[in-house]
Amino acid sequence: MLERLKSAALLRADSQTIETISILGLGYVGLPAAALFALSGKRVLGVDTNPLTVEKISAGDCLIVEPHLPERVAAAVDSGRLTASGKPCPADAYIIAVPTPFHPGSHAPDISYVEAALRSIAPHIQPGGLIVLESTSPVGTTRHLVEMLRDLRPDLAMPEAGDDGDIDIAYSPERVIPGRTLIELVDNDRVIGGVTPRAAQRTADLYASFVKGELHLTDDRTAEMVKLSENTFRDVNIALANEMSLICKAQGVDVWEMIALANRHPRVKILEPGPGVGGHCISVDPWFLVAGNPDLANLIRTAREVNDGKMHRTLDWVRETIEATGAEKIACFGLTYKADIDDFRESPALDIVLELNRLYPGRVIVADPFADLFRMRDPRAEELTFAKADHALDACDLAVMLVGHTAFRGLPQPHVPTVDVIGFWR
Ligand SMILES: NC(=O)c1ccc[n+]([C@@H]2O[C@H](COP(=O)([O-])OP(=O)(O)OC[C@H]3O[C@@H](n4cnc5c(N)ncnc54)[C@H](O)[C@@H]3O)[C@@H](O)[C@H]2O)c1
Repeated sequence: MLERLKSAALLRADSQTIETISILGLGYVGLPAAALFALSGKRVLGVDTNPLTVEKISAGDCLIVEPHLPERVAAAVDSGRLTASGKPCPADAYIIAVPTPFHPGSHAPDISYVEAALRSIAPHIQPGGLIVLESTSPVGTTRHLVEMLRDLRPDLAMPEAGDDGDIDIAYSPERVIPGRTLIELVDNDRVIGGVTPRAAQRTADLYASFVKGELHLTDDRTAEMVKLSENTFRDVNIALANEMSLICKAQGVDVWEMIALANRHPRVKILEPGPGVGGHCISVDPWFLVAGNPDLANLIRTAREVNDGKMHRTLDWVRETIEATGAEKIACFGLTYKADIDDFRESPALDIVLELNRLYPGRVIVADPFADLFRMRDPRAEELTFAKADHALDACDLAVMLVGHTAFRGLPQPHVPTVDVIGFWR
């Protein structure tokens, strides 16, 4: 027991200094964090299973379109403090920022990437090490990692409720919005949930190296629930806007005028409807709450269904307009899941365009400022015909506006029928 107390005291002393960090997953979340940690003076080994990502980052390049990220990555790599590799190596702290999708079809969370990341670092973790899970995860995932690690490293004492172990484990979700990632990583408040209070405190100390927002400490399960609740809040509110857009259309009311007027009420803030909800977060994370609470999460499930259903209603509106007008060429504006970002994941616009292209082969033209990146990343691009936005508008008999990219702002008002689900041309 005395030995254990002594080693705990030692750990507390050691824990003051985290010099080396291994960040697993160099995507939209992991790469900006890796650059900021490196520029704040830490030595960062970024780990990614995608060899192209490792190759690019090692050369100081960055495949992600995000303001100021290329400069920061280049500076971090130039400084020698950010390196990239396909495999982890020993570090003082490990941050896991890998994907957490759902299983297609069932909507059940797929945490296999997180589990694989933990397995890859397990052999390297030393007493005094810190593991931080950043991936958006179902409630209980951080504790699941503790249990996995207990099996993988029986030589290490795991933290228990109220009792520190040989290593510290915490959950600290990311709240950034694409397009403002570097600003928000620094300025946003951050929630940090430790399996033990010491784990939360050490994690807070680590992030304090670049975060200027407040660091709010709690336990891991609460922090997991906070993150899922934040994205669910957004999804439910967007579902209200999307449902109102259907009701307004049925009632012959302009939804955009209705929302503008309703929002003049001091306590009302209806969000904007669109073709659905996409991206890696809002369209995914509420399902984690539904999967864990199938009998309780009724509003949350319905909101997901309303937002997914909006994509099908948009398709119906396009088909009805084609039938009513006899339009031959259909131009679709936007493929990404929201404006001005290069992210096509779970994009309702992309699904709509692919389905229209299937229904009307040879008649669909697509314009998107990030089309070249889509061509690089997704083999389905070969099915599509791309054009510059102004050419697409000139060449079409029906204009379908799906994503309000700034690059479309200069387009003239169309002289052809439109299906405009974002109120772009109103
Ligand atoms: N993108 C966002 O704006 C955002 C915001 C908040 C939270 N999140 C959450 O953050 C997590 C990561 O999201 P992202 O957008 O950065 O994903 P991403 O797909 O952009 O990046 C994940 C990276 O992890 C790599 N990877 C997969 N398995 C790995 C492993 N075992 N070891 C090392 N690397 C591995 C992939 O190759 C990929 O480069 C997800 O849980 C997501 O829900 C994302």
